[in-house]
Amino acid sequence: MTISASHSSLGITNICCIGAGYVGGPTMAVIADRCPHLTVTVVDLNAERIAAWNDPDLSLLPVFEPGLDAVVGRARGRSLFFSTAVDEAIASADLVFLSVNTPTKTRGAGAGRASDLRWVEASARQVAAAATGHTIVVEKSTLPVRTAEAVKAILSASQGGTDSSKTFSVLSNPEFLAEGTAVSDLENPDRVLIGGEDPAAIEALASLYAHWVAPERILRTNLWSSELSKLTANAFLAQRISSINSIAAFCEATGADVQDVARAIGTDSRIGPRFLQSGPGFGGSCFQKDILNLVYLCQHYGLHEVAAYWEQVVALNDWQKQRIARLVVQRLFGTVSGKRIAVLGFAFKADTNDTREAPAIHICRDLLEEGAHLAIHDPKVPATQIARDLGQAPQHASSALGRDGSWELCDSPMEAANGADALLILTEWTAFRSLPWPDLAAVMRRPSWLFDARAIADADAARAAGFQVWQVGRG
Ligand code: NAD
Ligand code: UDX
Repeated sequence: MTISASHSSLGITNICCIGAGYVGGPTMAVIADRCPHLTVTVVDLNAERIAAWNDPDLSLLPVFEPGLDAVVGRARGRSLFFSTAVDEAIASADLVFLSVNTPTKTRGAGAGRASDLRWVEASARQVAAAATGHTIVVEKSTLPVRTAEAVKAILSASQGGTDSSKTFSVLSNPEFLAEGTAVSDLENPDRVLIGGEDPAAIEALASLYAHWVAPERILRTNLWSSELSKLTANAFLAQRISSINSIAAFCEATGADVQDVARAIGTDSRIGPRFLQSGPGFGGSCFQKDILNLVYLCQHYGLHEVAAYWEQVVALNDWQKQRIARLVVQRLFGTVSGKRIAVLGFAFKADTNDTREAPAIHICRDLLEEGAHLAIHDPKVPATQIARDLGQAPQHASSALGRDGSWELCDSPMEAANGADALLILTEWTAFRSLPWPDLAAVMRRPSWLFDARAIADADAARAAGFQVWQVGRG
C-alpha cells in the first residue's frame, strides 16, 4: 500500500538492510554482487557481528556458507557495506529491507507458538523516525500473515510531522534460501515473491531482482498471499520430513528400507524426489517456528482442526529426536552412565555453522541426562556455541564428576572415538560419509556401536570392521 502517493521517482540507488544475520548478510551480498551500481548497507545493533562481516580475513565471516566469502570479497567496499550506524543508513536509503529475527515468543500471550515481533516493530519504528523522502519498506523476515498492517500503521504514524515529504510503501518479499546452499539459492532462486499494493514499488523491487532473475520467476501477489506463502512453503517442506520420518520408524519395525521407499515414491512425478531424506528430525531456525506460528494463527481464526493438523508435524519431529536418544540408551544395555559416546555433527544440517533448533541439542541433552560423556566433533561449530546450546561448559571425562553427564569438543572423528562405546552421526557432513572403520574400531571399546541417524555411513564396511549398526529407517 502507498501510504502517501507524493513520491515522484522510484529509482533505487541506495539500499539499507536492517539485520546482518543468516538472511540479511548473504542476501545483501548477492544483491550487491549482482548490482555493482548500487550502494547496499547492511546494519545491525550487534557490533561484534558487524565487525566480523568487516573482517579482512574472509574466513572469519559470522555466517559460514559455501561461496559466500568470494561474493563478499568481490562486493565489499564497492557496493556492499556493513555498519552499526542504523539511522544514517536508513536516512539515505530508497529501499529498506527488514531482515531481523522473528523467533517464537517465550512468554506472554501465545508463548511457545506466536512469533515474537518486537524486533520487527523496533526496526519499523526506527525506519519511521529516520527515513527521509520516499522509502520502500520491504518485509524480508518471515512474518505472520497481516503483519504488514502493523508495519504500515507504525510508518503512517510518523507521517504528517515537520517532514511532509516523508512517505512509505510497504512490500512483502519473503526469503526462501536454505542454509548451506544460501549463495546458490540466491543466485538461482526457484522464484522471487513480491507482495504489495503499490505497483510502482513492486516494479522497483522487481527490477532489482531482474538483474539476474528471469522475469517469469518473479511472482507478484497481494501482501497477505505473500506473507502466508512463506509460512505455507515451510509447513509443506517440514511436513514431508515428518512424513518420511514416520515411515522410517515403520521401516525399522518391518524390515523395509526407507531409502528404497523414498526412491520408489519419489519417482512418482506428483511426489518428486527431494526432501525425502529421513534423519534425526528437522532443525534450523525456521521450520518449527513457522509451523507453530501457523498453528497459532489458525487457532486465532477459530480453525482448530487445521491447527491440530499442522501441530502434528512438530509433534512427530519431537518424537523422532526422543526415540533416537532412547534407542541409543537401550542398545547400550539400558545405560549410558559414564560411557563415552562420540557425537559426529552438531550443526542442524551440513555446510552451516548454525545450530538453532539442531536435533543434536535435544538428543545430546537427553544423553547427558542419562549420564553419558559426549565427545563431540563438528567441522564448523565452536565449543562456545555448543556450551550455550547444552547449557553446560565442556569438561574432560577424567574430571567429570560422578554420574552427571558431561561433554568435550574433539578435533576429529578419531579423537572423539577414542575409548568410546558408540559413534552417533547426527549431521550429514561429507567427511562422515567415508570414515576409516577399521581404525575407529581399533580405538573403541567393544562391542562398538554405530548409530547413524542420517543413514550416510557405509554400513557394510562398519559391520566388516566389527561394529553393530543401526541406521535410521533401515529395518
Ligand atoms: P538472525 O538472528 O541471524 O539475524 C537477525 C539480526 O537482526 C541479528 O543480528 C540482530 O542483531 C539484528 N537486529 C534485530 N533487531 C534489530 C534492530 N532493531 N536494528 C538492527 N539490527 C537488529 O536471523 P536470520 O536467520 O537472518 O533470520 C531473519 C529473518 O529471516 C527471520 O524472520 C527468519 O524467520 C527469516 N528467514 C530465515 C532463514 C534462515 O535460513 N535463517 C531463511 C528464510 C527466512
Ligand atoms: C528452510 C527452507 O528449506 C528454506 O526454504 C527457508 O527459507 C528456511 O527454512 P533451512 O532450515 O535452512 O531452510 O534448511 P533445510 O534444507 O530446509 O533443512 C531443514 C532441516 O530439515 C535440517 O535439519 C535438515 O537436515 C532437515 N532435512 C531436510 C531432512 O531431515 N530431510 C530432508 O530431506 C531435508
